[in-house]
Amino acid sequence: MGIQIFLGLLACCCLTFVNADLEGYKIYDITPCNAFEQHILEDMDRIKGYDFLHRPRALNVSSRVMVGPKDQNDIESTLTKLAVNFTIFNDDVSKSINRERIQNGKVRSLSRGISFTNFQRFDQINAYLDELAVRYPDRVKVENVGKSYEGRQLKTITISNGDRRPNKNVIWIDGGIHAREWIAPAAVLYVIQQLAENFQVNKDILTRYDFVILPVVNPDGYEYTHTRERMWRKTRRPTAFGCPGTDGNRNFDFHWGEVGVSNSACDETFKGQKAFSEPETQIVRDQLLKLKGRAKFYLAIHAFGNYILYPWAWTTAPSPNAASLAEVANAGAYAIQAATGTRYTVGQPSKVFYAAAGGVDDWAYGVAGIPICITMELPGAGSTGFDPFPQHILPIVSETWIGIKAMIQKVISKF
Ligand code: ARG
Ligand code: ZN
Repeated sequence: MGIQIFLGLLACCCLTFVNADLEGYKIYDITPCNAFEQHILEDMDRIKGYDFLHRPRALNVSSRVMVGPKDQNDIESTLTKLAVNFTIFNDDVSKSINRERIQNGKVRSLSRGISFTNFQRFDQINAYLDELAVRYPDRVKVENVGKSYEGRQLKTITISNGDRRPNKNVIWIDGGIHAREWIAPAAVLYVIQQLAENFQVNKDILTRYDFVILPVVNPDGYEYTHTRERMWRKTRRPTAFGCPGTDGNRNFDFHWGEVGVSNSACDETFKGQKAFSEPETQIVRDQLLKLKGRAKFYLAIHAFGNYILYPWAWTTAPSPNAASLAEVANAGAYAIQAATGTRYTVGQPSKVFYAAAGGVDDWAYGVAGIPICITMELPGAGSTGFDPFPQHILPIVSETWIGIKAMIQKVISKF
């Protein structure tokens, strides 16, 4: 009897505790048609603190916001009264997320290799890196580079052609600084798979450059989105202000806190109590500084919105080699459009949407001295934008690789 109650409770908890906080939440897509409407959206973002999954960017470009039951009347009546165009993209977020979570968990993980028919948990990702180091000892090296706040082991994988040239140029790629952007680590894993397991095809690239890759910058947040709150974005370290977590991509010490950040720990874009307050951002900083002089290309993968972005993000002023940055970014966008028709917008974040300081891209460019620094926002998909359905994962990550390869070729032609 006792055990039955216990099991009953357990089953009940397992079904309901995940995203219970999103019960009754809706997602709205809103497209501002004039400056006034854009202003209303910016107010919702900055003053009301609504959770924008895709922030207001420009006129006639839709933004996406997730709103809880208590604010739905307010937002719907405001938009209706002011005749702003909106649609309800998802009318029960918790339901669709729970459905997807069950589906994602159903796929069995492979005993070898990596699969792109579901999203991998952090342990499976690390296990894949270790497996590659065992399978390709001459070309693959895995290093423990530090621990997350909750003690998860961050590992970089270095992939080369085995020539062990000490001053060889390097390309750095990372993903998953924002926890909920699950397609980002998946896309980085696809790059790893192609370079390590498809060596013959990618030999030329590896003759010129080594790759240092960190697939999940923020594993605490990533795991938290798998087990608790699907929409979590930040790290998980507690702050002095009650709400845990810092936006890793606002935490780098370059014009830190100056623009496009929140000073409140409860917000999604909290800059942190100080620059580099997070162990995860310290790890990225230290690894990039170690590669100073050798690293020529820094690439961060995010989702979503179809953007290829380059510094500066903190100011609309152009960066010193803006022309080269644009050339590399455009090569990526052209290659993807030619391959699949998917379109990307290319430019400085501060120009194509919003300025935001303290991002790793600006820091890598301005402080670590990496000449080509790019942030790629992959396409949105699924019931929130962050949840590509299983059948969409492979098409997205493989077209992304086409774009990344084109950017790599461009970088190789320059350095
Ligand atoms: N959506 C990304 C973010 O908000 C854009 C990053 C662009 N770079 C930047 N430094 N803001 O973090
Ligand atoms: Zn992001």
